[in-house]
Amino acid sequence: MAPKLLLLGGTTEASLLAHALAERDVDAVFSYAGRVASPKAQPLPTRVGGFGGVAGLVQFLHEHNITHVVDATHPFAAQMSWNAFEACQKAGTELIALTRPAWRAQAGDQWTHVADIDGAVAALTGDPKRVLLALGKLNVPAFAAQPQHHYVLRLVDQPEVAPALPNHTVVVARGPFDVAGDRALMQEHGIELVVCKNAGGVGAEAKLTAARELGVPVIMIDRPNLPPRPEVATVDAVLEWIAS
Ligand SMILES: NC(=O)c1ccc[n+]([C@@H]2O[C@H](COP(=O)([O-])OP(=O)(O)OC[C@H]3O[C@@H](n4cnc5c(N)ncnc54)[C@H](OP(=O)(O)O)[C@@H]3O)[C@@H](O)[C@H]2O)c1
Repeated sequence: MAPKLLLLGGTTEASLLAHALAERDVDAVFSYAGRVASPKAQPLPTRVGGFGGVAGLVQFLHEHNITHVVDATHPFAAQMSWNAFEACQKAGTELIALTRPAWRAQAGDQWTHVADIDGAVAALTGDPKRVLLALGKLNVPAFAAQPQHHYVLRLVDQPEVAPALPNHTVVVARGPFDVAGDRALMQEHGIELVVCKNAGGVGAEAKLTAARELGVPVIMIDRPNLPPRPEVATVDAVLEWIAS
């Protein structure tokens, strides 16, 4: 039977894979959570929105005769990854994750590792600073617990409701970013501290290089616990897996 893929996306790597699949005429559906107002168009049939938990995803796999699921979501989309793992076990569907290695601190980096968003908020206790929050909009409200800082929020969309942070600036921008741009952003806003997730990959790494060059410390949120699925790191490896 010819494979039929479900590609769980929302990352640069997922978009690269979508192009490779389309070029090879692989039968595949691309899935977005629907978090951003205008998601990047994909060269595959695309659906948007949650499946309705594990049960909803099992139903989707059956209804669409999906033979293979590629989880190419962001490493912090842990709920989706666990749902995909459980649903594929239940439905007997093949699953692989297209992941990217976590970033590692290099000489000159000043990283403080924290376990999660709450850890990042706790690490911000102290005197007011100008802080670049390189996090998604859903993570922003937690920082109201440290209202003394001026936050620069880099978001994909202009928020419909102003973030509940007394001092903030919104910068609307969508990755991938480059070092020159991120250095200029940090200098323009006088950034003294960066808060980010250890996403890995190339699309969001520039801020770390810029922070290193400018001597700006980083609060690095370490990765969440992800399911024990097979993982590969390249588009070619996914293509080989489908063909095997
Ligand atoms: N978390 C981040 O920092 C981050 C950063 C960049 C991009 N993203 C992308 O943004 C999306 C949402 O991330 P999240 O952290 O909010 O996810 P999450 O917390 O793991 O997932 C929450 C729920 O959103 C739905 N969902 C997530 N990804 C989906 C997808 N690709 N297709 C269909 N439904 C999806 C699922 O709903 P149901 O239970 O109803 O199926 C899931 O249970 C993901 O596609 C991820 O790749 C996330």
